[in-house]
Amino acid sequence: MSKVFVFDHPLIQHKLTYIRNKNTGTKEFRELIDEVASLMAFEITRDLPLQDVEVETPVGLAKSKQIAGKKLGLVPILRAGLGMVDGILKLIPAAKVGHVGLYRDPETLKPVEYYVKLPKDVEEREFIVIDPMLATGGSAVEAINSLKKRGAKNMKLMCLVAAPEGVEEVQKHHPDVDIYLAAMDDRLNEKGYIVPGLGDAGDRLFGTK
Ligand code: PRP
Ligand code: URA
Repeated sequence: MSKVFVFDHPLIQHKLTYIRNKNTGTKEFRELIDEVASLMAFEITRDLPLQDVEVETPVGLAKSKQIAGKKLGLVPILRAGLGMVDGILKLIPAAKVGHVGLYRDPETLKPVEYYVKLPKDVEEREFIVIDPMLATGGSAVEAINSLKKRGAKNMKLMCLVAAPEGVEEVQKHHPDVDIYLAAMDDRLNEKGYIVPGLGDAGDRLFGTK
């Protein structure tokens, strides 16, 4: 069974409160998502392996550390996942970025795939699949299926807000993929929206409705 981590850092929780607020406009919403994505990237990379290196400072030789050559890949689920990419790249600028395009059919709530483009060396990379919302879990399960079908072996799932139903669904289908969240909410409503959630993440990010 995969693990679920909820990042309780005060800055993440504080900013999430503003993101949830229905009176927060598109510009501020986008900026806050970007900031929280950076903070979550800081937490999610905690276990990256380090190697010892030596570096010459202006004064002498220092025994120091650097990240031990792990190849990282980000895969935002379009559209809303895009809002988190730049914030993560600020901390991990060398990461390659793939894309999985999915939308949720409003009637069936099932994901429909319309685009996939991944880095060439899929098998060697550790991927972070990104989507602000984990609702029924259908989109995340499908995106991870899509990556695995193309050879990806190591993945983490990073979402802002999840419903318990979505977490269960991902754990059922992908017990090897750990889940990293800023909040675990109460439930889904009859339209498949997370309650209390933050509304439609894609529409709020891009100002569509
Ligand atoms: C939203 C969200 C997730 C998905 C979550 O995308 O960004 O991808 O719904 O729902 P699920 O867990 O029930 O699958 P949406 O389908 O609204 O598309 P968009 O990002 O293009 O707006
Ligand atoms: N997608 C969203 O954007 N919000 C939800 O609450 C559920 C799915």
